[in-house]
Amino acid sequence: MSTNPIGIFDSGVGGTSIWKEVHQLLPHENTIYLADSRNAPYGPKGKQAIIDLSVKNTELLLSKGCKLIVVACNTATTNAIDYLRQHYEVPFIGIEPAIKPAALQTEHNAIGILATKGTLTSTLFSKTSELYANGKTVIEQDGKGIVELIESGELYSEAMRSLLESYLEPMLKVNIDYLVLGCTHYPYLIPVLQELLPQHVKIIDSGKAVAKQTKAVLERHGLLNTSTEKPKLKFYSNTDPKVMQSFLGDAFVAEYLEF
Ligand code: SIN
Repeated sequence: MSTNPIGIFDSGVGGTSIWKEVHQLLPHENTIYLADSRNAPYGPKGKQAIIDLSVKNTELLLSKGCKLIVVACNTATTNAIDYLRQHYEVPFIGIEPAIKPAALQTEHNAIGILATKGTLTSTLFSKTSELYANGKTVIEQDGKGIVELIESGELYSEAMRSLLESYLEPMLKVNIDYLVLGCTHYPYLIPVLQELLPQHVKIIDSGKAVAKQTKAVLERHGLLNTSTEKPKLKFYSNTDPKVMQSFLGDAFVAEYLEF
């Protein structure tokens, strides 16, 4: 048993979609969330830059005593998790686009994947895609510009709508029945995406699977927090924390931290 916090980091506020799932499944765990919004988006950066940023976030979380780290960012997972696992002893949980369930369940043999350039061009992504989606029509779309809009609080703007419309168009042309959200910022777009997509298209993201994996790994390492005390939930952003506050709602407090 360990009361030390679970650390979670992302290039910004998007990973709070993962934090919500982790907190729902593990409500007694203390958590520390880092939104590296100052450096968002990670997607267009090169591999080494993404590793360096992931190391910086990891070091900060470790200095605060975290017992496990969730890399709540697809781009950081696909580019940096191997490095982190090789250099640090704590367990790391990563986020991979849910290609496998989409590819196994598609009846139209056509799926769409919306992710960042950094994720789509990673080796981990192409290996997973080859393994599970071979023989299916896979439309990969770089969600350029989406993270920036979300980070500036523009979830429901006209600019967001028209960007999404143009990204979905090639997918609709081949009649996809699954849309995989390969970036932890994107689950916040589900209401808009549902308006833009035909009803038969199912949207999947990795949040619940990541929460389950976090629980399983904590159990395996004997690190679950079995205390029933109210958990300490900390949220830090290195830009104006107002944006993160609007994603968290009134029940939690987002704070500024220099990192
Ligand atoms: C980004 O920072 O570009 C997006 C984060 C992600 O890939 O989940």
